[in-house]
Amino acid sequence: MKILKATAISPANIAFIKYWGQKDAKLILPFNNSISMNLDNCLTTTTVAFSDQFREDSVRIKFYNSAEKEVDGKQKERVITQVNRSREQIGIKLPAKIVSHNSFPADAGIASSASAFSALTLALVTALGIKVNKRELSIFTRLGGSGSATRSVYDGFVEWQAGKDSQSSYAVQLHDEKWWDLADIVAVGKDDQKKVSSLDGHLIATTSPYFAARQTELPQRTRGIKEALITKDFLKLGRLIEAEAVSLHLVAMSSQPPIFYWNEGTMQIVQALLAWREKGLLGFFTMDAGPNVHVICRRQEASQLNKRLRQLSSVKFTIINRPAKGARLVKKHLF
Ligand code: DP6
Repeated sequence: MKILKATAISPANIAFIKYWGQKDAKLILPFNNSISMNLDNCLTTTTVAFSDQFREDSVRIKFYNSAEKEVDGKQKERVITQVNRSREQIGIKLPAKIVSHNSFPADAGIASSASAFSALTLALVTALGIKVNKRELSIFTRLGGSGSATRSVYDGFVEWQAGKDSQSSYAVQLHDEKWWDLADIVAVGKDDQKKVSSLDGHLIATTSPYFAARQTELPQRTRGIKEALITKDFLKLGRLIEAEAVSLHLVAMSSQPPIFYWNEGTMQIVQALLAWREKGLLGFFTMDAGPNVHVICRRQEASQLNKRLRQLSSVKFTIINRPAKGARLVKKHLF
């Protein structure tokens, strides 16, 4: 039997407006629209193959600087659920082999699920010959469980429209990756292990007394970010990004039970950014579901900021990212 095979590459993304809380946990429907920028140095490449020569489904993952490893338990289950969803679409039962390589280290505290699930889904539909347009791919990716992955399907700067139901909840492109020469310097701390998953955070988000207030503020902030992207107003973008990060973490810290993602290192970086800003060096902070600080800056200030960030005692290493293309197919397979 012919082997069905495809390989896709896809970026992680950093959210300027965050997805936090699910209106429908099964369909992965968010309460609010979210906006992100794809990251060109945080990539996942995934090869998917289906063949009757395989005895069972297998999933192998490799991070930068570590060996490829067979995964099992919950991690495997999450991948295989998406594999099953695609097998069901065309009614086949062939076993699958999935190999996934990440361009960043496992201990970077960077959620690999956005890049992983967008690359996986594109490779799956391609290997099986399931015809989908970009919007359908974004919906199919979202159903895989990592909501933020739906944004990595498109190039550059992307909005995930919350929608009312599964068919109306998908991503759209705001601007391509060449639109604005921004950078995201990820400052990875020495003590950075994400301890509470985003999934657990989504489930308890509405228990925060500030969740409703956040929802009231979001339409205006979201409009502001979109305007700042159109007009390339960096100061406006930076201020809104920071307000949004604080809003998300305020909700997380006041949920039942509370989730504290920030640590001492996070605060050291925030304080340093504020001090450098006073002197005219502009870098703005945002954090996803972990203590790492993403420093959003303009290209001309990236190397100076990077040098200073690396000198901070809490910073283990940094990764400099530019806006990136979204999920795409590549010819070179991993096996
Ligand atoms: C804080 O459920 O998409 O990053 O756990 O990586 O699958 P994974 O994340 P997901 O939640 C993302 C939460 C967030 C904000 C965002 O990216 O919008």
